[in-house]
Amino acid sequence: MDIVLSGIRSTGKLHIGNYFGALKNFVKMQHENQCYFFIADYHSLTTHPTPADLHGSVKQVFAEYLACGIDPEIATVFLQSDLPEVSELYLLLNMNAYIGELERTTSFKDKVRLQPENVNAGLLTYPVLMAADIIIHRATKVPVGKDQEQNLEMTRKFARRFNHMYKVDYFPEPTAYNFGKTLVKIPGLDGSGKMGKSEGNAIYLTDDAKTITKKVMKAVTDSGPTMQDQEPSEPIQNLFTIMQAVSESETLDYFKDQYKNCTIRYGDLKKQLAEDIVRFTDPFREKFEDIYSNNTYLRKLVNEGAEKARVSASQTLKDVREIMGFKAF
Ligand code: TYM
Repeated sequence: MDIVLSGIRSTGKLHIGNYFGALKNFVKMQHENQCYFFIADYHSLTTHPTPADLHGSVKQVFAEYLACGIDPEIATVFLQSDLPEVSELYLLLNMNAYIGELERTTSFKDKVRLQPENVNAGLLTYPVLMAADIIIHRATKVPVGKDQEQNLEMTRKFARRFNHMYKVDYFPEPTAYNFGKTLVKIPGLDGSGKMGKSEGNAIYLTDDAKTITKKVMKAVTDSGPTMQDQEPSEPIQNLFTIMQAVSESETLDYFKDQYKNCTIRYGDLKKQLAEDIVRFTDPFREKFEDIYSNNTYLRKLVNEGAEKARVSASQTLKDVREIMGFKAF
């Protein structure tokens, strides 16, 4: 049995990239493993949300997790900010994390480009906090999308460094996990890059049918194939990748064949894709409304989750303090 942990930042709503990158795998794993799923609300502070935004999106994302099929009876579901042990481990790990390696991470460089007016220390040490989230439960498998691969590499490095510095074999080295073997990157609808909350190219799980259709019909395409068996351009390949996630395989094959023999009509492709996304997200929306409106239930789960998560977190922190030399006289 593995210890599995995954998390999502509470920056806005969940999109289908989050689902296929992290949630889908987690939901499949929760029955056979010891599973933790949490909301990274401290991490979301790196983009300076207002208190109202922070509060609102934590509740939104928590309800969305449950609507996706995470079962709080089996998995431990909690908020990052409910575990003071994580902040302490983060502080301790920061002493052995170096500015150079943190500045070199792709996600930091991306953020510097995206928010040059707000390059805060939290952004720089983002991978350290993420490592603390993971190793505080001594997790071994972390279901995430392709974009988190480097952060997982950093987590392994910090775990290894700790073991090496203190001559112990305490922290396991966790790996990024996907059932399909390779990590997933769901592209956006704007023709290039991944689907993301800040990129404005996402389909959210709570979008209604009309919104989904409108977004898909506006997706970037090209002027169409001109030669038999031509390789699709990036915007078209992106639509095929989303289709591969939400549609039947015959549907994808049909449109790929049409592309190959140059008979494809992008309007038809988009119409089909929109229908399949709506069908795929329908059950989610129904469950979400019910869960979101039940405040008493949500509050109870958050409290129970915090209590459960603190059992392993406090044990790890106790061990770590002892290993590092914080002991009673
Ligand atoms: P976040 O909130 O950006 O994304 C949450 C999860 O969704 C995945 N994801 C995607 N997967 C495939 N295609 C996409 N277009 C796509 N967009 C997002 C991400 O890979 C991620 O798995 N740093 C994390 C939150 C975090 C965390 C952790 C995760 C903090 N501590 C510890 C795991 C373990 C983040 O910002 O994810």
